[in-house]
Amino acid sequence: MLVSCLVLLLLTQAAAAPPPQQLPRCLDEEQLAAVVEGALGQLQAVADQRQSPTTFSEWPRERAAASLPDSLFPNGTDPESGQWIGTKPSRWTSGYLAGCYWLAYGMTGDQRWADLAAAELPGLEPVAAETDNHKVSDIFDSSYGEALRAGVPGAPVEEYQRVMQTAAASLSARYNDKVGAVQSWYDIGDEFVVIMDSMAALKIMFEAAAMPGGEQRWADEALSHSRRVARELFRPGGGSYHGARFDADSGEVEWRGTFQGYADNSTWSRGQAWAVVGFTHAANITGEPDMLAAARRAADYFMRRLAEAEDGVPLWDFDVPPSAEQPWKDSSAAAIAASGLLRLGELSGEERYSGAGAALLASLAGGYLGWEAGQGRQPLAALLRNGTFNVAKGSHSTGLIWGDYYILDALAWATAHNLTSSCAPPS
Ligand SMILES: *[C@@H]1O[C@H](CO)[C@@H](O)[C@H](O)[C@H]1NC(C)=O
Ligand SMILES: *[C@@H]1O[C@H](CO)[C@@H](O)[C@H](O)[C@H]1NC(C)=O
Ligand SMILES: *[C@@H]1O[C@H](CO)[C@@H](O)[C@H](O)[C@H]1NC(C)=O
Ligand SMILES: *[C@@H]1O[C@H](CO)[C@@H](O)[C@H](O)[C@H]1NC(C)=O
Ligand SMILES: *[C@@H]1O[C@H](CO)[C@@H](O)[C@H](O)[C@H]1NC(C)=O
Repeated sequence: MLVSCLVLLLLTQAAAAPPPQQLPRCLDEEQLAAVVEGALGQLQAVADQRQSPTTFSEWPRERAAASLPDSLFPNGTDPESGQWIGTKPSRWTSGYLAGCYWLAYGMTGDQRWADLAAAELPGLEPVAAETDNHKVSDIFDSSYGEALRAGVPGAPVEEYQRVMQTAAASLSARYNDKVGAVQSWYDIGDEFVVIMDSMAALKIMFEAAAMPGGEQRWADEALSHSRRVARELFRPGGGSYHGARFDADSGEVEWRGTFQGYADNSTWSRGQAWAVVGFTHAANITGEPDMLAAARRAADYFMRRLAEAEDGVPLWDFDVPPSAEQPWKDSSAAAIAASGLLRLGELSGEERYSGAGAALLASLAGGYLGWEAGQGRQPLAALLRNGTFNVAKGSHSTGLIWGDYYILDALAWATAHNLTSSCAPPS
């Protein structure tokens, strides 16, 4: 089976230009089902530990409490215990556990997952009105947005839509006409920074605009933002800057560079992955050719550089020199890109993208699953090991809740679209 996958992927690649030796691996139907089963079992273990939507039984409380007394929602695992560390609901990562539960519901139709997910929502709801940065996009896309996509019979759809619209209005409050973009970081009026991460979940502005009572300008602002990002954050070769600073009065770019990457002129893997998934969603929702072009550009670069990673999972930055003392992987970048590439494969009709997404899943399954011990490793509470949050802050090689969310999304997509059929020998 693996041999036939290899043949097919090589054939697919041969037809496409440029021809990177894309990862010659994919999961067959049985392997994919086994990974899904393992992932759901792992998520169930997290749910069992979370006794109520506000506590974990094995919580490394002392550590978490030192920095954040109101720890509630998982964002990364503790490097020593391997257990989730929680943060306050207003951190950008707080919606992803609910998102994991909704995706599990989507994969199984089991009401228990929907109940777990719904129980997470009230703790998040008050955050929708916060406008101190763009976090509400991630928080509400993964929680309430997934709730709507899950389509549970009898769900309070109007209530969900109301919260989504509050979040969209919060993002809109950060939009600046001169820049034509939503300010990512800092208070309104402070430095006007826009980061590639902003593409991840901007789709809630489009979605909220289309809901009853929604404002068209939310969608217009989201499209303008996406276009400005596409214009300013890519380099000619398709790699990306992490962010840019704009003059809020003139709208001019003042600076381009990095916050979490290796260097101002390097390509931070997760930023590139946010671009792949973000522009793919924007293209899907708007049908605009320039959004699809931006998605392809981001994806082509990601795939080309990924070919340098011998195990198929990228380092935290594509330009970390081999001599650097930071050879860390970022599995979350791989998971985000997998979700984006699988979707882009369908949207563009080009199998090389789905093939690359499938290869990423296979690579993650090959050595990054949190529940698989061995090689001196203990099981970890997360679905994925070796996420890198922020090397500059010394945070690497942990589980990351958004990595778990995106690998579940990719697994759900691969399963629902019978992606393994592309593993079949060419007839
Ligand atoms: C989790 O959040 C806390 C508080 O913001 C932060 O200090 C920590 O680095 C985060 N950990 C990870 C792995 O994201
Ligand atoms: C970034 O700039 C430095 C200094 O000019 C240069 O040595 C390095 O090769 C550049 N890296 C990339 C990825 O362009
Ligand atoms: C992966 O994570 C482990 C800790 O779980 C760490 O020891 C190892 O260095 C990491 N490897 C890479 C390549 O990031
Ligand atoms: C595009 O959006 C529709 C509606 O939300 C969704 O059903 C479909 O799966 C999306 N397609 C991609 C490629 O993400
Ligand atoms: C998925 O594709 C494989 C290979 O083409 C096929 O054997 C199988 O029946 C398909 N499964 C579903 C659920 O369509």
